[in-house]
Amino acid sequence: MPAPSLDQLVSLCKRRGFVFPGSDIYGGLANTWDYGPLGVELKNRVKKHWWKTFIHKRQDMMGLDASILMNQKVWEASGHVGSFEDLLVDCKNCNQRFRADHLIEKNLHTDFQELKKSIRDHARKEQDLNYKTVKSEFDKAASKNFLDALHNIFEAEKEWSKFDNDKSIANLIIQTGKIECLNCGKTNWSDARQFNLMFKTYQGVIESDTALVYLRPETAQGIFVNFKNILDTQRPRLPFGVGQIGKAFRNEITPGNFTFRTREFEQMEIEYFIEPGNSEKYFDEWKEIVWKWFTDFGIDKNRLRIREHDKDELSHYSSRTIDIEYQFPWGWGELFGLANRGDFDLSQHEKFSGQDLKYTDPDDPTKKFLPHVIEPSFGCDRSVLTLLLEAYTEEKVNDDIRVVMKFHPSIAPIDVAILPLSKKEHLINKAQEVYKKIIHETELVVDFDITGSIGKRYRRQDEIGTPKCITVDFGTIGEDDAQGEKDTVTIRDRDTLKQERLPIVKLIESLKH
Ligand code: GAP
Repeated sequence: MPAPSLDQLVSLCKRRGFVFPGSDIYGGLANTWDYGPLGVELKNRVKKHWWKTFIHKRQDMMGLDASILMNQKVWEASGHVGSFEDLLVDCKNCNQRFRADHLIEKNLHTDFQELKKSIRDHARKEQDLNYKTVKSEFDKAASKNFLDALHNIFEAEKEWSKFDNDKSIANLIIQTGKIECLNCGKTNWSDARQFNLMFKTYQGVIESDTALVYLRPETAQGIFVNFKNILDTQRPRLPFGVGQIGKAFRNEITPGNFTFRTREFEQMEIEYFIEPGNSEKYFDEWKEIVWKWFTDFGIDKNRLRIREHDKDELSHYSSRTIDIEYQFPWGWGELFGLANRGDFDLSQHEKFSGQDLKYTDPDDPTKKFLPHVIEPSFGCDRSVLTLLLEAYTEEKVNDDIRVVMKFHPSIAPIDVAILPLSKKEHLINKAQEVYKKIIHETELVVDFDITGSIGKRYRRQDEIGTPKCITVDFGTIGEDDAQGEKDTVTIRDRDTLKQERLPIVKLIESLKH
């Protein structure tokens, strides 16, 4: 089934209590979202599944929960103070700010990285640079008017070597006069400039430079600064990994697309420490492992792809990065990133902290070195968003459209719903007995729903993705043989819509998945 539109999903999420706009009763706060009762169950299940797969079920992995606030030197050492930047442009007419690459992509309906690569490649080969070659490169992506404008600028500038970095290329494209403000439609732009994405705050009561702290922009650094503590207390042998789930904050210039890009989000990150020289082997291993993790949830492989980062797109700490991208309703977008961080972080922290962070080979104490790092980095919110999009299904049943969230049973927010057929007290009591039996004898999350007709309740359970519904009726309490035998209930399957009559004593066995 084709993916739903983002509006369809956002509407279902609000209607059924998965995700609400943040600060809703005050008119919201731009691009903040709160996970409702169903959303928090879904998100917790994704995190639990991740923790079980990567921490509990692997001998070589352990967990950590580091602070969000860290010594500001951490971010100087990690390079985030100097290099964690995006290109920003201001519309001089309406004062709206945009991330330069997003603005260009939205205007030209093309990928900025591709466009940049074409311009940069030609700029580097000055003798090749003429209108025809540039035109043939851009033909697929850009409009004729845009090409003419770009050609005029190339002709006027003549200094091709200037167009060899993100900033000058963004300015070149924006100067064509063809890039319109997404807010007011004008083309009156400031020059593009670098903007640091870290959120700042002050610790304590005095707002001074020494009290300045940053909200962490990635969870990873908590692992690197605890590397020595982990070596000293756990005595791990290489290769080993440390995993962490937690909030990260980035002052994104253009957040948007629901929970895809927000300023506060959650990451699930692993730093996998290895002996130098083995990077490619472990990089490929993690690529396979993570691909399997996503596809085991039933994510359609046709809507997933791997994208290798171009050399000049790499983060300051990475020598190789691939993204797993998902085909979101607005196009391909990063779901997960795998980076080869080498010994960049440990050597920087060694330098800035003055501490010895070397690993000693337990079999040869004379062999001391800084391990290298492979980093699988999952966005928790983007994983949840992807699973919501994948689950959303519309089916024609008789003359009606049934909306059903076909979550993999291991992550469905509710496992089973108990639906008493009527509100009669003795029927409710029997249904309560069944409810208590399931919650006492299993770990399942059980909903007890008595509001509305049975049809409406099935519809609600379909829309929240509950795999099984149990109906307790007058047959169950021995008052109507036509509905079923005494002490039996009906189980309805979300996906097949098949209904089965089962004795209550066999219920627990049948609910195991
Ligand atoms: N430690 C490496 C790191 O942070 P990243 O590619 O910047 O790498 C990793 O982020 C993952 O975090 C991304 O693949 C994405 O899923 C998620 N992520 C990054 N920025 C985000 C944002 N503004 N909103 C939601 N998720 C985000």
